[in-house]
This record gives sequence, C-alpha cells and structure tokens, in this order.
Amino acid sequence: MNNFNYFQPTEIRFGGGRLSEVGAAVSRWGRRCLLVTVPEFPEFSSLFKKVKDLLKTSGVDVAHFPGVTPNPTTGVITAGARLAKEHRADVILGLGGGSSMDAAKAIAVEATHPGTAWDYLFFREKQPTAATLPIVTVTTTSGTGSQVTQVAVVTNPAEKNKSALYNSLLYPKISIVDPELVRTAPPSVTASTGFDVFAHAFESYINPAGSPYTDLMALEAIRLVSRYLPNAVTDGNDLEARTSMAWADTLAGLCIANSGVTLPHGIGMAISGIYPHVAHGRALAAVYPAMMRYTFLAAEAEFAVVARILDPALKSLSDCEAARRAGEAVDRFLEDINLWTRLEDLGIPEAEVRRLAEASLILPDYRNHPRVANVSEVFDLLNESFCDKPENKRK
Ligand SMILES: [Fe+2]
Repeated sequence: MNNFNYFQPTEIRFGGGRLSEVGAAVSRWGRRCLLVTVPEFPEFSSLFKKVKDLLKTSGVDVAHFPGVTPNPTTGVITAGARLAKEHRADVILGLGGGSSMDAAKAIAVEATHPGTAWDYLFFREKQPTAATLPIVTVTTTSGTGSQVTQVAVVTNPAEKNKSALYNSLLYPKISIVDPELVRTAPPSVTASTGFDVFAHAFESYINPAGSPYTDLMALEAIRLVSRYLPNAVTDGNDLEARTSMAWADTLAGLCIANSGVTLPHGIGMAISGIYPHVAHGRALAAVYPAMMRYTFLAAEAEFAVVARILDPALKSLSDCEAARRAGEAVDRFLEDINLWTRLEDLGIPEAEVRRLAEASLILPDYRNHPRVANVSEVFDLLNESFCDKPENKRK
C-alpha cells in the first residue's frame, strides 16, 4: 500500500431534523451572521424564515443576502461581501445547494481581504489568510459535496471563465446535512446533482491521487447512487432514498477533498464557464458516455468494478469485457434518471467545440485522468458527445 494523507476538519451533523441545531452551530463561531442563499422563491420562504428564527433564538444577529445565482459570479460574491462588511459579520452561513455554499466560502474571503475573491484563486500566489470568516453550511441538495470541501467555484463572466478558490481555510467549520431538506428538490435537479455525486466518486476512484481511504468511500458512494438515485428522482418524498443520496454526496465530497476530480470535471467547468446557464451535473452527463469509452483501457480494473456495481449482470465477465461495457452501463443509468443529454441539448454550437476543448485543459484536474488527454483528443471526445451519429441518438 502506498503512503497517503487524509485530512477533514469539518464537523458533520448528519440526519433528519438536524436543521434545528443551526442556531447553536452558528453561535459557536460568531454572533453576527450573514445568511447566504438564492432569492426568496416561494418554495424556500418558509425554510429561510425558520433558519432566521432559529438563529435569532440563539442570539445571533442575522443579515440575509438572497442574491446567489446558479454558477455564482464574481459580481454576486462582491455584492455578498459588501453586505457582510456592512453587517460586520463574523460568521457566514451558506444555506442551499453548491452555489450557495460556494458563494458563502468566497464571500468569507472577499469580506476580509483586499481585492476580490477572484484574486485568491487556487493557482495565485496570494492566498486567503486566517482572517477568512468561519463558514457554516446547511445543504439542501445532494450534489456538490461542498459541505465538506475546501473548494469554492466562481464564474467570471467578463473573462468567460469558471475557476476555483481552493484552500484549507474554506472547509466549513460545521455542516448540517439534513436529508429532510432535500425532499423539495424537483426531479431534474435531483438527477443532475445526483449524477454529480456519481462523478465525484468515480473520478476520485480512478484518480492516482486516491487512497485506500477515499476508495472505500468512493465505492460506497457509487453503490448508494446506483441503488437510490433512480428512486429519489421518481419519488422525492422517498426518505430512505433521500437519506442515502445525502450520505453518498457527503462521502463523495470527502473523497474529492482528498483525491480530487479528473478530466470530465475539467470539461464540465469549461462548459459552465462559457455557458453559465448549463447545470453542472447536466454538463457532466453530456460528456460521460464518450469519456468512459475514451478511458476504459487505461484503468480496466477500476472501470470493471464500477461497471459491475451499475450492472450486476457484468459480474460473470472478465475485467477487460466488463470495463469495455462500462460506457453502456453509464448510458443506461443516465436513461434511468432521465438525464441522457447531448451537447446540443445544452445549447452548445458545434462550432464552439475547439474553444471548449482548449478551455477544458486549463484546470490541472485532467492530468490526474488515467488517460491524459491533449486538446485534439478532447476535441474528438466532445464531437462524440453530439447527437450527429445514429448510435448517439438514444432518446
Ligand atoms: Fe462536481
């Protein structure tokens, strides 16, 4: 066994009804809280009110920033940081899906440092300091794993670029994962965020930076997604499925915090950077079928294991044959959760593929893919992800 490190400082409070602890959790870290959420749509208003009441009961003075958008932009972060400073916030609470949690993390940096959060991206010399405000999260989707990671993804519309802050100071101090909050997520959100969980676990498992620790969690996450995501999509009130997906999401987040993602996330980040309207999980779904076929020979044993989880009928086949059929297993899984997607379904013109291929290799994640791609290989892979061939037309 190779040497490995494992680090995880977030206190996880998992289980139905744990939202009731939000006031106590936040007040452990501060008394003046900025609550960061999406706009107050009718379906969220009672949750937002409940959280504000719980905070007030615990003696926390709360200001609400309801300005988060999907793929939060630099402008969103700056507006939130301005309110944090006006309120003299000493703790940030991210309530929502990955966008709200990532925005909370980036706001915690921008409110306490010169310049903007974009100045503190993972590759810059300047990095967040201990002045970063403590972050607490309450997750309402089962997708990004952001509740247990040190990553905050931000989109810069002026540069048409999506990148990330990545720093240990961004681990939430406390994360409440209450599966009852996920019940209201509609089927399309459940499917795309749930597929993101699969992608995190899969890319961690095939990642050379993985360890026996992350492999254990990744395979359990893949088993849970395979078994429970179709049920969660079909019946949002299936609490067993919701709880299993919340656990899978947390496990997969713990994986990527320690091993990381690979090529598909590089492509997915490029897609949402150029086309911010595209949901992250849907972008991944569009490229996974071609990626599986492009990669399987470079990681046969791992692909075989995952293929057999998705399709137990492959257990009788050799590793070589099971790995070869992993792509078909993913196709069927995507169809089962109504997420079979082609790039043209996302509104991406074929003329943009070259630019997209180049942007896919900006982040370093692709270097940890079992088969390290160059631009022309990504170009081919993206072209395979259009519906221009009869065999690609699956719906
Ligand atoms: Fe992801």
